Amino acid sequence: MKSKSIALIGFMGSGKSVASKKLEELMSMERVSTDDKIEEQQGHKIIDIFFEKGEDYFRRLEHDFIKSIAETEGLIIDCGGGVVLDPENIKVLKQYCHLIYLKASVQQIFERVKDDHHRPLMNVPDPVGQIKELLALREEMYEQAEFIIDTDGKSNDEVCQEIVRVLKNE
Ligand code: S3P
Repeated sequence: MKSKSIALIGFMGSGKSVASKKLEELMSMERVSTDDKIEEQQGHKIIDIFFEKGEDYFRRLEHDFIKSIAETEGLIIDCGGGVVLDPENIKVLKQYCHLIYLKASVQQIFERVKDDHHRPLMNVPDPVGQIKELLALREEMYEQAEFIIDTDGKSNDEVCQEIVRVLKNE
């Protein structure tokens, strides 16, 4: 029997991608990345979708994909950082999955995203200001998760062990 899926949410650079890869290994579940799936389905990179069709269009693709997989069991879902902007996404993910927020500080996020230029929302003159602003807007949405894992100063292995632990105690 397959177990309830796990959905990881959190800001860009909070470590969802590496954590989901490790959890796939640890829990023998199948990893799905919303960003990768959208890129695969559209045949375009996220940055090009944002640029050519706009953010709203991307958010609709994201919502459609979340809806299509939320009920599937046995998945580790690596959610794009903005998935929480649509309350319907939070609702459906919470209904069917363990929703886990990987929380990281502005500084930690900046360190992780600063050399990576494939994120459209981070290609701005003041990335730290942008992180602060978006995080302030999104924090309460992320905090609707079932579990909140503080990732600052922790290795990916430590974060994943904590996830496994909280899920066992649940
Ligand atoms: C976004 C996060 C990105 C990607 C897109 C928008 C956001 O995913 O979906 O660039 O709005 O926070 P990651 O969180 O995996 O970087």
